[in-house]
This record gives sequence, structure tokens and C-alpha cells, in this order.
Amino acid sequence: MIKILNKKFNPRIKARIRKNRQALNKNLDNFFEWVKGAELIELKECNTKEDPVRPELSNEFRTGYGRKIFGVKYQGEIHAVMCFAYTNEIPKSVEELEKFSHDAFLQSAMRDQNVGQIAIAYTVWSKKKGGGKLIVKEVFKKIKKSNHLNRLVTLSPLTEMATKFHSKNGAKLLQVNEDTQNFEYKVL
Ligand SMILES: CC(C)(COP(=O)(O)OP(=O)(O)OC[C@H]1O[C@@H](n2cnc3c(N)ncnc32)[C@H](O)[C@@H]1OP(=O)(O)O)[C@@H](O)C(=O)NCCC(=O)NCCS
Repeated sequence: MIKILNKKFNPRIKARIRKNRQALNKNLDNFFEWVKGAELIELKECNTKEDPVRPELSNEFRTGYGRKIFGVKYQGEIHAVMCFAYTNEIPKSVEELEKFSHDAFLQSAMRDQNVGQIAIAYTVWSKKKGGGKLIVKEVFKKIKKSNHLNRLVTLSPLTEMATKFHSKNGAKLLQVNEDTQNFEYKVL
């Protein structure tokens, strides 16, 4: 019986595997093509309604007190966005994020220094498969090159997506808070 089934299904299964392999290769080709031409740029603003994590934060918040918006650009279009605040402490909430980055900004102005030593990524979203991973990689390179930033930490939502995404990209869970979690991408 098993032999008969094998004979009947094998060609169909083989054909399906061949088809899947072809589709996978095509997807990989497309993926590497767009990843090669992509670049990390600082943005003056983003479409806050598109932000699945913190849509309530305005562009004024995202660019005030030294905070920055970065995007991955490819063929004139933004495919992934990541927003940063610079602090000297790790925030457990958006309120702390606002306070700590505000404090770091004022301290830096007084001492004529750069703003904060810790880069806090408080939101990331991707519009094209692979965009998320790519923006993390590019941001990591940029921070490694910088003279004053020595830590890259996230303020992430308590979702499975965030946990999987950051763990897969090599970050370590630092702490779980009331309604956020912090991951760290080790720079040093
Ligand atoms: C998380 C996100 C940025 C990933 O970027 P991406 O370009 O889509 O995908 P990448 O190829 O870089 O990474 C994919 C990985 O993210 C994780 N992921 C993506 N979607 C997921 C989901 N619905 N559930 C669980 N994990 C998910 C997985 O680890 C996945 O790996 P896999 O495809 O091998 O399973 C993107 O899915 C997104 O914009 N999500 C909504 C915003 C969000 O929740 N951001 C929070 C992260 S702090």
C-alpha cells in the first residue's frame, strides 16, 4: 500500500518542491537586489499614522530635544523607519523616555557635549520584508562608528513580534517593565 502511494505521490511532491525552490530563489534574488541599493538617511518627519507601535507621538516629539528619525530609502521610497532618543539612563516608559532625553539634551547644551550616551530605539516598522532587519543593521554600524554613543537599547512593546524580531537580530533582553521591555544590541 505504502509503495503504491509513494509511486503515485512522488512525482507530484517532487514537482511541488521544485516549484517552491524556484519561488524561493526568485524571492531571494529580489530581496538582495533591493537590500544592495538601500541607504540609511535621517528624516525630518515620518507618517506617524503608519507607526504600528507609537502612532500617538507627533513629529515634533520625534525631532525635539535631539531626537531623530531614520529611514531606509530605496528607489526614492522609504521602506523602514526607526525613531531614536538619546539619554544617559534606560527608560521603562515613554514618559521616562521623554524626561531622560530632555535632561540629556539640556545637560549637553550646558556642557557643550553631544546629547546622551545611550541611543534608545523606541519604535521600528517595516513596509517591505527585510526592511526591519536592514535598518537595525545599518543603525548598529552607525552607532559603532560614533564617538559618543556607547549603547544601543530599545524601548519595545510587550509583543511576541518585538521579542522574536530583536532576539533574532542578536539583541539581549535587559528587563521587562510594566508595559514595555528593553533589549540591548551590544556595541562594545
Ligand atoms: C517587526 C518588523 C519591524 C520586522 O521587520 P520586517 O522587515 O517585516 O521583517 P524582517 O525580515 O526584518 O524580520 C522578520 C522577523 O520579525 C519577526 N516577526 C515579524 N512579524 C512577526 C509576527 N507577526 N509575529 C511574530 N514575529 C514576527 C520574526 O522574528 C521574523 O522572522 P521570520 O520571518 O524568520 O519568522 C515588522 O514586522 C513590523 O513593522 N512590525 C510592526 C511594528 C512592530 O511591532 N514593531 C515592533 C518591533 S520593536
